[in-house]
Amino acid sequence: MARLEGKVAIVTGAGRGIGRATAVRFGQEGAAVVVNDVDAAPAAETASMVEAAGGRALVSTDDTVDLDAARRMLAAAAEAFGKVDVVVNNAGITRDRTFHNMDDVLWGFVLDVNLKTAFHTSLAAMPYLREAAKREIGEQGRPAYHRKVTFTTSSAFLTGNAGQANYTAAKGGIVGLMRTLARELGPFHVNVNAVAPGFIETRLTQAKAGGEDLGIPENVRQMALLTIALGYYGQPEDVAAAHAFLASSDADYITGTVLPVTGGMLGA
Ligand SMILES: NC(=O)c1ccc[n+]([C@@H]2O[C@H](COP(=O)([O-])OP(=O)(O)OC[C@H]3O[C@@H](n4cnc5c(N)ncnc54)[C@H](O)[C@@H]3O)[C@@H](O)[C@H]2O)c1
Repeated sequence: MARLEGKVAIVTGAGRGIGRATAVRFGQEGAAVVVNDVDAAPAAETASMVEAAGGRALVSTDDTVDLDAARRMLAAAAEAFGKVDVVVNNAGITRDRTFHNMDDVLWGFVLDVNLKTAFHTSLAAMPYLREAAKREIGEQGRPAYHRKVTFTTSSAFLTGNAGQANYTAAKGGIVGLMRTLARELGPFHVNVNAVAPGFIETRLTQAKAGGEDLGIPENVRQMALLTIALGYYGQPEDVAAAHAFLASSDADYITGTVLPVTGGMLGA
């Protein structure tokens, strides 16, 4: 299937996990993809995978916690591919602590990587998404086609998750941002949606013994498994398929929604 033929997409946090799978899936579906990650080597590897899948790729190591970096990334995308049609705000990180141990550094870092990158990337994309559609409305009465913004939130924002006050606040913020953008950008036929993964096997959910920045204790992993109706953890490709659907014209009449990709996780 090539539902993104001729489209240009930016995927943040595309060096690993869900972002990488999404970039590769978009390549398979015919898109040119800007592979954005702060880690250069995994981003370059993803770009090769996109090209092997039949897409065109451009690496961006811009850290969009900085708005100027986001603007540089969008300008480079337009320079390389002529336009931008799809933005996938996927970059994310965890720094888990029980709430009474939370501090400003952990709070600020997780809010920046999960929420501010999405704010800045979306803002920097406005000339390419909103303004392009506005021009088309002026010329021909309506946008030429639907443009798309998708976000990766998390089922944790719905249920709460012990140790993740910073992360759930950021992921809830993503949903508020997504719903407001859907309202503001609807008249320009920019669809804005989020996917909410449950438990997907990436470095964020790998088993950890204790002390590491990323990962989940094995007993909590086992507990999570019991809440999943399908009885197994998800893979990055499962979430990539949801992003690809929402980015495609199959979802032109869907906006302002959160699509859970959880295997039927209890409470999510
Ligand atoms: N794995 C899960 O179970 C799960 C569940 C719910 C939501 N999510 C969300 O999915 C998204 C992807 O997570 P993942 O599980 O694939 O993790 P991952 O760690 O495998 O991939 C995240 C990527 O984001 C990159 N990154 C970090 N800071 C960045 C920045 N400032 N700009 C650009 N890239 C940056 C990292 O280098 C990494 O390559 C995140 O938003 C995460 O919160 C994951």
